[in-house]
Amino acid sequence: MAVSCVVSNASNMDQIVDAVWARLHAGANADKERSPFTMLQAATIALDGAPAVRTVVLRRASREQRSVMFHTDVRSTKVAELRRDPRISLVGCDLDGGVQIRLHGVARIVEAPSETRGVWNSSRPRTLIVYRTPIAPATPITSPTEAHATTHVEGLDSSAGFDNFCLIEVAISRIDYLDLNPAGHMRASLVFEEGKWRGTWIAP
Ligand SMILES: Cc1cc2nc3c(=O)[nH]c(=O)nc-3n(C[C@H](O)[C@H](O)[C@H](O)COP(=O)(O)O)c2cc1C
Repeated sequence: MAVSCVVSNASNMDQIVDAVWARLHAGANADKERSPFTMLQAATIALDGAPAVRTVVLRRASREQRSVMFHTDVRSTKVAELRRDPRISLVGCDLDGGVQIRLHGVARIVEAPSETRGVWNSSRPRTLIVYRTPIAPATPITSPTEAHATTHVEGLDSSAGFDNFCLIEVAISRIDYLDLNPAGHMRASLVFEEGKWRGTWIAP
């Protein structure tokens, strides 16, 4: 894959920055062909102060806006956690390429229909099913079927579940890039300052 070539040859900071965003864009825009960075793990601070982590699908990556985005349920635990403390970290890993990218930033919970409606309308119906169950995530239930949404009802309103849908937009302030290159491991810390990503090499 072209992106991994860029990464394995990347040796100066500009190349590293290019490679990081190329990988995130590939992750967010992967269609049938999965990219290693389509699934990221997102870490928040739980309400009791413990770390909390879960897998999310990277839906958008914008180098210009220095942000990434995923979709979630407004009723979920992670949203409650982010309302209390919006700091968030995400990590993705290309196991074949030996590359790890860690993103650090602040989350914005996007709930306004003016911002969410277009995304909802352009999402594949299959991905919206989870928002259609009236039972909030993490509610105790007696069997899995209890929380299954009724999706095959004649004339189901295409907006059903829309009120439970939100976007999490993460403004990224720092990136940690690690390349376990056989020719020599490389790790860089990238911080956005004065209109530019500035990188420093750090020991892996
Ligand atoms: C492959 C995979 C992709 C997932 N993608 C998402 C996602 O994009 N958004 C989301 O809210 N949950 C996603 N989940 C479920 C979360 O990992 C998590 O179980 C759920 O959101 C509840 O998390 P919370 O209790 O921390 O809020 C995904 C799970 C898997 C296994």
